[in-house]
Amino acid sequence: MNILVVGGGGREHALVWKLAQSPKAERVFCAPGNAGIAAQAECLPVGAEDLDGLVALAKDKRIDLAVVGPEAPLTLGLADRLADAGVVVSGASAAAARIEGSKAFAKDLMKKYGIPTGDYRVFDTLEPARDFIQKTGGPLVVKADGLAAGKGVLLCQTTEEALAALDQVMKAKAFGAAGERVVIEEFLQGEEASFLVFTDGKNIRPLPTSQDHKAIFDGDQGPNTGGMGAYSPAPVVTPALHDEIMGRIMRPTVQAMAAEGCPYQGVLYAGLMIGPKGPRVLEFNARFGDPECQPLILRLESDLVDILEAIPQGRLDQVDIVWNDLTSLCLVLASAGYPGAYEKGLPIEGLEAAAQQEGVVVFHAGTAKKDGRIVTNGGRVLGVTALGRDVVQARERAYGAAERIRWTGKYARTDIGLKALARIKEMAS
Ligand code: AMP
Ligand code: GLY
Repeated sequence: MNILVVGGGGREHALVWKLAQSPKAERVFCAPGNAGIAAQAECLPVGAEDLDGLVALAKDKRIDLAVVGPEAPLTLGLADRLADAGVVVSGASAAAARIEGSKAFAKDLMKKYGIPTGDYRVFDTLEPARDFIQKTGGPLVVKADGLAAGKGVLLCQTTEEALAALDQVMKAKAFGAAGERVVIEEFLQGEEASFLVFTDGKNIRPLPTSQDHKAIFDGDQGPNTGGMGAYSPAPVVTPALHDEIMGRIMRPTVQAMAAEGCPYQGVLYAGLMIGPKGPRVLEFNARFGDPECQPLILRLESDLVDILEAIPQGRLDQVDIVWNDLTSLCLVLASAGYPGAYEKGLPIEGLEAAAQQEGVVVFHAGTAKKDGRIVTNGGRVLGVTALGRDVVQARERAYGAAERIRWTGKYARTDIGLKALARIKEMAS
């Protein structure tokens, strides 16, 4: 069959890498892809949000199966459009993707169905929102309702910071139309974990647990990024907690979406805060996480094509989904300056040496080819991903391979995976 992956980041490279290994895959296409994806797929210069272009491409290349990486095209209705064109597509419909596209929608859904999340209020105008902040007092979290490329969440320790954040969102319109509505939320304490499931709207098959590292600096300091590294499994999610998350969060959410007339089919990702009151939902995403997808894909033993086909066909209960018992870890190598301004077009050395390390796969994110050389082309450039028998070995392998890669201004956190290590030690003692 002919397969199309939409997107061009590390997550999409991991999906292409896995799909290309399927005996069912004849041709694998990626739009727009990147320099690393080009080694395993035919990259086509169609943007991930160019819906007309993607539908035309799907017809032209006789695509049988499509998977959509990023959230923006899903909220715009790409999965619906491709399905109408006869493609088997594994991705949420526009109606279902509202669970990520509107934070107010997600919060109201959780409230209506008793799914654990922080207290919150939604506002469409500035004055009542300001009054609420003044009355409640910080710490608070101010969130633009719509998609803001992961930047629309402002963590405010004090009332003054929350008022300034509100002005930034609603007055200065820092996130454009995404900030016309604002969600003001209780500041939750605890440790974060990512919990992803495959669902066909009825059957739910959890992926292994994982944990992202959102802040730019070690020790979770500094501004949030798209994610600086991830590992799987996340020991913070104990077996008892796993049951609780499935029973109180994932199953009720899938049932709620069906009850609301927008059944959810695809990967459903809950960003959780595990705190003293148990797991609570920070946000839902309508897709694989990036970088969580990279370590998760290295743990998948089964054919991803079989899983993705079964989702729109409503027969997820019938597929084998086997994960290995190893630990995987993805270390993101970023451009100096990210998540702010950074330089592009810098030549990258050492990619081959890094890829030769045992257990290591180097997934590309912001890379391009220029004059026959691979150069940087984004904030997050590479995801050096390694499998190991435990987090110590996965860390050693990923960091060891990353050392072989060089470009001017390469930046990485030095503490990816250390939280897992600390928790494992704590559980052993
Ligand atoms: P979101 O895009 O909603 O997941 O928010 C991005 C990040 O902001 C999360 O991964 C958390 O680190 C943080 N965050 C979001 N909501 C809250 C909250 N209510 N309390 C504490 N931290 C939060
Ligand atoms: N890793 C966070 C996200 O994909 O949104």
